[in-house]
Amino acid sequence: MPIKFPFKKDKKQPRTEPLGLEENHIPKHVAIIMDGNGRWAKNRGMPRIAGHKEGMGVVKRIVRYASDVGVKVLTLYAFSTENWKRPKNEVDFLMKLPVDFLSTYLPELIERNVQVRTIGDFDVLPAHTQKAVKEAMEKTKDNDGLILNFALNYGSRFEMVHAVKQIASRVQEGEVDISDIDESMFSQELYTSELIEPDLLIRTSGEQRLSNFLLWQLAYAEFWFTEVYWPDFDESHFEKALYDFQNRKRRFGGV
Ligand code: IPE
Ligand code: IPE
Ligand code: MG
Repeated sequence: MPIKFPFKKDKKQPRTEPLGLEENHIPKHVAIIMDGNGRWAKNRGMPRIAGHKEGMGVVKRIVRYASDVGVKVLTLYAFSTENWKRPKNEVDFLMKLPVDFLSTYLPELIERNVQVRTIGDFDVLPAHTQKAVKEAMEKTKDNDGLILNFALNYGSRFEMVHAVKQIASRVQEGEVDISDIDESMFSQELYTSELIEPDLLIRTSGEQRLSNFLLWQLAYAEFWFTEVYWPDFDESHFEKALYDFQNRKRRFGGV
């Protein structure tokens, strides 16, 4: 049965006719590199942080859409371990975004049965960021709808080195034999241990790279790129990504 998703009227974009998604073939885990906020703002003569603010509104719409079409896990790259290199005012703004986002949106997430999670090195985030996110995780922990997984201070290499250290120390303690180390044990040491692997990776803004995002987990994901900057990304783009995913032939190394 094709899904007919009622698009909200959008000032910026003409309404698009639904493409007709197969409801039993929606990717279970979609990961998104939300990129292009800065360039979006620059094109309008605005400071970069204006792009981040606009991008936050897009997150809300995309979460609604993902939960409506039946995506199980939506992982959003919000801040990388490399993003600390940015000017202090921008980093401060990005660290306040979860507070703003959740102060207005948490009730809707609860109502929609969404479960909030994070991946990344959480403990070094500013206290106010941690507090807001922890509250959201606590209040949604029993929800069994869409898992909204924010990659916050996330870096794939850091994650993998951490996993190696964990396993090495278990070997040292004599708990684990080197010959027992396998892919599954390694996966269990990653932040994503409780999640299924992403089926689909979306990156906006025309860049075609991973920027240290889920290097292990994306081994067999389908990649989908668009030139559109994140603040201009909407339901119709998301629908097109899902539609293209449904028309890809995944082989996983077979024939
Ligand atoms: C993505 O937009 C948001 C974050 C990385 C936090 P950018 O801020 O990277 O925007 P561009 O790529 O500079 O346009
Ligand atoms: C990746 O975007 C990180 C996030 C979207 C949070 P960047 O804008 O930081 O990546 P590069 O610098 O273009 O590779
Ligand atoms: Mg960028």
